[in-house]
Amino acid sequence: MKKYTLHLLALISLVSLPFTKSMADEGMWLPSLIHERIADMQSKGLKLSAEDLYSINNSSLKDGIVRFGRGCTGELISSKGLLITNHHCGFGQIQSHSSLEHDYLTNGFWAMNLNEELPNPGLTVSFLVRMEDVTERVLKGYTEQMDEETRLGIIAENSKLIISEVEKEGIGYKADILPLFYGNTYYLFLYQVFSDVRLVGAPPSSIGKFGGDTDNWMWPRHTGDFSLFRIYADKDNNPAPYSPDNVPYTPKKFFEISTQGVNEGDFTFVYGFPGSTREYIISDEADFIANRSNPHKIALRTARLGIQKKYMESSPAIRIQYASKNASVANAWKKWQGESKGINKLGTVDSKRELESAFSEWAAGKEEYSSVVESLKEKFSAMEEILFVNDYYMEAPLSVEALRFAVSYTKSAQKNRDNLRAEFFKDYCQQIDRECFVEVMSRFVENIDSLYHPKIFTKMMEESDGSIEKLAESLFEKSCFTCESRLIGATDQELADDPFVILGSAFMERFTDLLALVGKEKSQLDLLYRRYVKGLREFMPEKSFYPDANLTLRIAYGTVQGYKPADGITYLHRSTIDGILQKDNPDIYDYNIPQSLRDLCANKDYGRWEVDGTVPVAFIATNHTTGGNSGSPVIDAEGKLIGVNFDRVWEGTMSDIAFDPELCRNIALDIRYALFVIDRLAGASHLIDEMVID
Ligand code: ARG
Ligand code: GLU
Repeated sequence: MKKYTLHLLALISLVSLPFTKSMADEGMWLPSLIHERIADMQSKGLKLSAEDLYSINNSSLKDGIVRFGRGCTGELISSKGLLITNHHCGFGQIQSHSSLEHDYLTNGFWAMNLNEELPNPGLTVSFLVRMEDVTERVLKGYTEQMDEETRLGIIAENSKLIISEVEKEGIGYKADILPLFYGNTYYLFLYQVFSDVRLVGAPPSSIGKFGGDTDNWMWPRHTGDFSLFRIYADKDNNPAPYSPDNVPYTPKKFFEISTQGVNEGDFTFVYGFPGSTREYIISDEADFIANRSNPHKIALRTARLGIQKKYMESSPAIRIQYASKNASVANAWKKWQGESKGINKLGTVDSKRELESAFSEWAAGKEEYSSVVESLKEKFSAMEEILFVNDYYMEAPLSVEALRFAVSYTKSAQKNRDNLRAEFFKDYCQQIDRECFVEVMSRFVENIDSLYHPKIFTKMMEESDGSIEKLAESLFEKSCFTCESRLIGATDQELADDPFVILGSAFMERFTDLLALVGKEKSQLDLLYRRYVKGLREFMPEKSFYPDANLTLRIAYGTVQGYKPADGITYLHRSTIDGILQKDNPDIYDYNIPQSLRDLCANKDYGRWEVDGTVPVAFIATNHTTGGNSGSPVIDAEGKLIGVNFDRVWEGTMSDIAFDPELCRNIALDIRYALFVIDRLAGASHLIDEMVID
């Protein structure tokens, strides 16, 4: 025992792996187990109890938080169902209500009364009713001797039963059962889902997306990244599909807002739905992500972004059409760069290697664990190529808009087609798609073995004398999926013979096969990871482990703190409206603030939101967050809302794989800036009046 302790100590000083550090501020904790962390949280400043954060009997903070849409978080800020999330989380909705006549992207949108709030078909918000460890029930009937496939079959069967049982408990209930720690544990997540969610307010993009993709993932930041929505329910306060008869939802809990602000060193926590992390992967996988997969994906997107930019700058209509698509392409593109850099700077691959050898030394002679690292390495190396091809498929052929659309359109029911078509062509620019096709498919041919090319693609290439340009010309000129009037007039036979339908189906088919293969291999890999993580927990009994993020509700806590991004530079923990004026530049799209904001600032007309002659805009803290945490409440020691999470700093984006307390910071919008914009800029004081502010 002693020997291992010594060994561990040596290891702690050697490596900066998440699970060897002094747990500084790393971790995304399960709310239902927060009682295990509460003493630590309280010692750092929290004034609340575990029951205040998560309770299934009484209302608790969790009841004021929703999973917003497919990958964001939002929090309730009034007794009338008003919620705040990020501008970039509502971006798709804001964009879809926008046109050249009603350009809400450019001018912002503010409903001045309930009647003006805009419905958003397809958008849902989900409240967590409860989470529960169901491992025993899920694994009922399983024995260690069974193979992975049988195990998964049993889990699926048992889960189905549990889910159908709990979904009967309430209206709009929807349940998930998900593995944690690669299937060492299974949890039930029961949600209540609301589908009438209306847009209430959004600042102009020049505020909500201020700094654009130049500032994205960066600190210091001055983005007013928020938007407001309202949840509607039927007369009994239950979820109901959109209806003009629905009324604002009365939540069990909503956040009171504090305008006291934060100082460096203050305790904060973030309560939301982080999407995905992979903190426990082996060195080879981290190396693959940082040094092979990311660089290729980045290069493909660099090419697409260049083309989009050229056209967006040439036409205001195209700028609106591609605003949302461009933002999402740019977002991951920039994150991957920070992530790769961070992993290499931190030496994550090496430190993981060291951990693996220390673990293997400990595991020697232990039947369950002795060969697990080696097996993981073998398995990963055997599947690396298909992972790479899979990534490439996503980023190259499947990024071609007309190709994807051709497949989904022909698969859709006749009655939906008019809508689909209108929606697609509203935001489609053939030239962009065509130039992107040439770029990404040339790289596809260059980097992906022909073994993985669909036969029909090879044939089409031959017919085009091996020229992607020539292939593009014939595809884009002949297909009905690049021209709305052609598509409207197309007969069934023409659809079936359409070159993009043929090519798209072939790529989709290969991709589906690939996915199945990756899935199968991954389940084998996960089986090994399951054993490895179980072993790690025995190897380091003194460390608290947290499960990887999986878009379920988590609590991360830390303190407000600046950081040192590089030698000679220290960043402060907060930014103010003065910085917006410093960046303001009418000639640069991303930094061209509305004249109304310029005027307010010139007169220092900050109203009650003024602090020391300025208005706070954003702050950073050591909370461990990831994509999906966007829109999450950033909460003070007393449980009051002080900010809205919207990003991480670039130097810390490797925290999905390795958290470094020196560099990893979440970025939050200071709630006072949002209130200032709503009040002074939008003149929507009726919304301020709904909130409880101190
Ligand atoms: N980086 C943030 C996130 O991952 C914000 C993204 C939206 N903003 C943008 N400029 N693309 O979602
Ligand atoms: N902007 C991200 C989101 O949409 C949050 C940033 C991050 O990845 O931490 O969830």
